[in-house]
Amino acid sequence: MSELWIQPSGGALAADVHGVDLSKPISDAVFARIAEAWGKHLVLRFSGQKLDDPTLMKFSARFGALDRVPIAAASLDRANSGVVPEAAEWVAVIASVKKDGKAVGSLGSYELVWHTDMSYNPLPPRASLLYALEVPPDGGNTGFLNMYAAYETLPSDLKRAIEGKSCIHDSSRNSAGELRKGFQRTIDVRQTPGAAHPLVRLHPVTKRKALFLGRRPGAYVHGLPVEESEALLDAVWAHATQERFAWYQKWRAGDLVLWDNRCVMHRRDAFDENLRRLMHRTQIVGEPVLAG
Ligand code: OGA
Ligand code: MN
Repeated sequence: MSELWIQPSGGALAADVHGVDLSKPISDAVFARIAEAWGKHLVLRFSGQKLDDPTLMKFSARFGALDRVPIAAASLDRANSGVVPEAAEWVAVIASVKKDGKAVGSLGSYELVWHTDMSYNPLPPRASLLYALEVPPDGGNTGFLNMYAAYETLPSDLKRAIEGKSCIHDSSRNSAGELRKGFQRTIDVRQTPGAAHPLVRLHPVTKRKALFLGRRPGAYVHGLPVEESEALLDAVWAHATQERFAWYQKWRAGDLVLWDNRCVMHRRDAFDENLRRLMHRTQIVGEPVLAG
């Protein structure tokens, strides 16, 4: 393979990393360049890779300890995923694929709303790495948002309104809106289960401030009357989710996309449920969320 080079997407975030075969050991020097590019571009795409679960786990572990897979939707039987037992706790299967009429993975073919992975946990993952094994010819694109840019351009009245405030990140539903195992529907957002985090987050490595929103459904800004919390969140979300802060990934099999879950949100377009799409994902243990 040729030498490593970084090609920025030209959009609000993301870059391609060329010239690296992730199935082979990565030298510290090469890894340092990948880490530097990641800090700058927030999302990295490595195309044309051939990874099995142990290699995906090995490369992922360069970014920190692997985090456990999230709690599955009530309908999923994980024994059906086909992931080897050593990987079952660490590799999440994101799939529309069915075997004997049963889903082999999470999140089906539906639209996924803008979200941060597992931010309902007290220590949300630092990063996620999503590897495409099978993709449909179209649909199922994944969008990413630059939350530094969203924060930096926030109108000053909104910046003031969220300063020092924290928000509940709903743990009861996944990003497709499905109830997770063991959870009940919540009606009053003040009762939403899940961790609360500062709305403005200081990135521990880059020391830049980013909006940290998690996901809109079930969110609640601590200490505000519900209507005020709803109005404030609506205004901040309307600002943050503008196309000018976004970049979309159109998947090809063999793409591995790594995102910084501390300063990026993501979403997915729906696709035809009869088409096969199969991805394996790892996530990296995060650090305490620092207020910005
Ligand atoms: C995820 C996720 C998006 C996709 O795996 O965390 O949001 O494109 N997936 O499937
Ligand atoms: Mn996700």
